[in-house]
Amino acid sequence: MLQRANDGASLTGNVSVARIPSIRAFLAQIAEKTEPSTGEEAATHHQKQEAAKNRPEDIAYCIKDLHCRTTSYIIPLWISHNSLRGIVTTVAFIYHPKIRRSAAMEIIALTSDKTDFMNQAAAILVRAFAENWPDAWPDLASALEEMEEMTASDRICRAALMDVGGSPQVVGWIGGIPEYDGLVWELHPLAVDPDFQGQGIGRALVRDFEEQVRQRGALTIQLGSDDQNDMTTLASTDLYDNLWEKIAHIRNLKGHPYEFYQKLGYAIIGVIPDANGIGKPDILMGKRVIA
Ligand SMILES: CC(C)(COP(=O)(O)OP(=O)(O)OC[C@H]1O[C@@H](n2cnc3c(N)ncnc32)[C@H](O)[C@@H]1OP(=O)(O)O)[C@@H](O)C(=O)NCCC(=O)NCCS
Repeated sequence: MLQRANDGASLTGNVSVARIPSIRAFLAQIAEKTEPSTGEEAATHHQKQEAAKNRPEDIAYCIKDLHCRTTSYIIPLWISHNSLRGIVTTVAFIYHPKIRRSAAMEIIALTSDKTDFMNQAAAILVRAFAENWPDAWPDLASALEEMEEMTASDRICRAALMDVGGSPQVVGWIGGIPEYDGLVWELHPLAVDPDFQGQGIGRALVRDFEEQVRQRGALTIQLGSDDQNDMTTLASTDLYDNLWEKIAHIRNLKGHPYEFYQKLGYAIIGVIPDANGIGKPDILMGKRVIA
């Protein structure tokens, strides 16, 4: 039925469309289920709610069981239909990753005895970094070596599983290394299967990781995200010249993940100029994980 949404995300699963009696009741239900977590999300959420309330003639349809294999969650996607003109006038999209995650994904501790999951996670590492960081893990052997290191008992290694074709499959994973006697943890690495990106999995893995390090007494998470491919305005420039101005005015040119981390509350805390060759810096980011 529906294959793609207007934000470009793939929509799959058993789709059923149900007419709902009142858009107000529907939006109230969405608000209850989604609880926007950032100011920006809350603003958009509120704006969309207000826009919907101002169109009382619309009939709303909710689409159930999209992405999720359960009907217990209402997927916050609605299509409004102008009953007077008899045509679909608006396709609005109210959508929150928490919904998708809550019904379809679980995050587990990845240990080296889970061979299938280890292999799947290693393959994801190669594929996720291939385009912009081809030297990071060029093949399965180097990725498996990384996996072995990350599953050591003093580190954190967590995998997101989704039911794919009736069996659980790794769709992303995250690792962590303790530093400064465990007060700081380095987030390394983070990879989501390219086929599953843009579905809230990265966000869920980072949130889970934050909880894991919090439980271990950490104060801070830090990470480095290389720019080897002119993905930001911090590449191909002399960072020793006017460094902090350049950091303050950084722009994302090709989808560098620093912006993903910013959305999750991470700040740029520095940069290592020429970390990967002249003009190819490592962007350092950090977040305090206690209240
Ligand atoms: C970066 C990565 C982990 C993000 O995972 P994901 O599951 O695709 O991200 P999510 O769906 O959870 O996205 C959460 C938010 O970040 C945004 N986002 C995700 N990747 C982004 C990017 N590269 N640039 C800008 N914004 C991004 C999403 O649009 C979403 O924003 P929204 O809440 O406003 O809708 C994933 O794309 C990946 O594995 N990339 C390749 C490897 C990599 O870059 N790892 C991190 C290196 S340090």
